[in-house]
Amino acid sequence: MKRVDDFRLRLGKHELVPIMIGGMGVDISTADLALEAARLGGVGHISDAMINTVTDRRYKTKHVKEKLALYKHNTDSEDKSSVKFDLGRLEEATRLHVENTMARKKGPGMVFINCMEKLTMNAPKETLKVRLTAALDAGIDGITLAAGLHLGSFGLIEDHPRFRDAKLGIIVSSVRALQLFIKKNARSGRLPDYVVVEGPLAGGHLGFGMDWAQYDLATITNEVLQYLRDEQLDIPVLPAGGIFTGGQATAFLEAGASGVQVATRFTVTKECGLPDEIKQEYFKAGEDDIEVNQISPTGYPMRMIKSSPGIGDGIKPNCEAYGYLLDANCKCSYVTSWNREVAAHPGEKRVQIWDKTCLCTHMRNFEIWTCGHLTYKLKDTTHRDANGQYQLLTAEHVFKDYQFSTGHQIALPELSLAAEPA
Ligand SMILES: Cc1cc2nc3c(=O)[nH]c(=O)nc-3n(C[C@H](O)[C@H](O)[C@H](O)COP(=O)(O)O)c2cc1C
Repeated sequence: MKRVDDFRLRLGKHELVPIMIGGMGVDISTADLALEAARLGGVGHISDAMINTVTDRRYKTKHVKEKLALYKHNTDSEDKSSVKFDLGRLEEATRLHVENTMARKKGPGMVFINCMEKLTMNAPKETLKVRLTAALDAGIDGITLAAGLHLGSFGLIEDHPRFRDAKLGIIVSSVRALQLFIKKNARSGRLPDYVVVEGPLAGGHLGFGMDWAQYDLATITNEVLQYLRDEQLDIPVLPAGGIFTGGQATAFLEAGASGVQVATRFTVTKECGLPDEIKQEYFKAGEDDIEVNQISPTGYPMRMIKSSPGIGDGIKPNCEAYGYLLDANCKCSYVTSWNREVAAHPGEKRVQIWDKTCLCTHMRNFEIWTCGHLTYKLKDTTHRDANGQYQLLTAEHVFKDYQFSTGHQIALPELSLAAEPA
C-alpha cells in the first residue's frame, strides 16, 4: 500500500516531502511550526496577519502602542479614514518576522509566508505591496497568496529581483478562480509555482458561501487538474481542507495532486501558537460544537468553535491600534454594527453584537477559535490523562504520521507519564 513518502513535491529544483502546513493567522502557524516542517523536508508557513502585533510580541517592537498613541484622538469617531498604517513600520515588522524565521531554518524543506488579500489595512494596494516586497527582501522561500482573488498581486512585485526566483502560489476554491488568476496574470509572463485548492472543510475563512456543504474537495481538485491538463500547464496542485490521515493524503496524490496542505492536526502541537488551554478546547470540541458563520467582517464565511469567547462580544472597535480589516473605503462592517448597537442602546456600558465580530482584537487575543471541520476528531489522535487533559503532540509526530502512515491509521504519540489512552 502506498504512503505519502512514496511521492515528492517538485517546486523548481526543490524536491520536497509533499506535505505543506498551511498558514494560520494570527501567529497560530508560528515560526517554530513552519521550521519543523522545513526541517523534516516539507513546507511550512508563517503568516503576515496582524504582523505589527506579532512582532511586538515576538521582537519587542512597540508598533501597536505607537499607532494607538498617534490616533487616540479618533477612537470615538466613526470615520476611520485617517487611521493609516505607517508603511515603514509595516516593512520593518515583516522583515523582522521573516528574517528571524529564515535565520533559524535548517533542513531541506522550505518556509513560505501566507498573505491574505482581505487584510486590506485601510490602503489595500499600498500595504500589500509593502508586505510582499518586504517578505521577498527578507529572504522568504515563497509566498502563498490567500483570502482573495489576487488579480493584481503579481503586478505589485513584478519588478522585484526575486519575482522569478521565489516560489509564488495561490489558494483557490474553484477552477474559475484559478482561470481568472491565470488570465489576469498572463501579462507578467509568470505562472504560479503551485496552486492550493482549498475545499469547504478547511479552517479559517472559506472561499464559499453559506452553501459550502454542497461542495467537495475531490471534485474541485479534479476540475482544477483537468483544466491544467487541457491547457497543458504544469503547475503542482495541493488540495487542502479535511485531509486528516496519511491515507487520505495518499489518495489525493494517487489521483494526480502533487502534495497536500494541512493545518487542523497541527493546532494541537506544542509548536502551534495557540495558548495551551485553548488547544484543550480544540481537543474537546465535538462535531456539534463547530459552526460556519458570517461574523467575520471580511465578508467570507468562517469556521470556528461555537464557544469562542469573541462571538457576541461587543467590544469597542480598536481600529486605532489595529485596523487590519479597514477596507478601501476605510470601513469595517464590525464598526458599522457596533455603532448601530450603541445608538440603539443609549447609556449601556457594554452592548452585545452577534452579526459581526471585532476580528482584529479577538484573533490577537485568541478569542475566536477558528478550526477545520474535522477538529472534532483531534481527540482520537492522542492520549488523555486522569484529569481529562489531552496530551499535546509534537509537530514532528503529526508530520511523520502524515508522511508514513497507511490507510486511515493515525499513530498515537508515545505516552507521557501522566496520560492514559483517550
Ligand atoms: C486555526 C486555523 C487558522 C487558519 N488561518 C488561515 C489563514 O490565516 N490564512 C489562510 O490562508 N488559511 C488559513 N487557514 C486554512 C489552512 O491554512 C488550511 O488551508 C486548511 O485549514 C487545511 O485544512 P485542514 O485544517 O482540514 O487540514 C487556517 C486554518 C486553521 C485550522
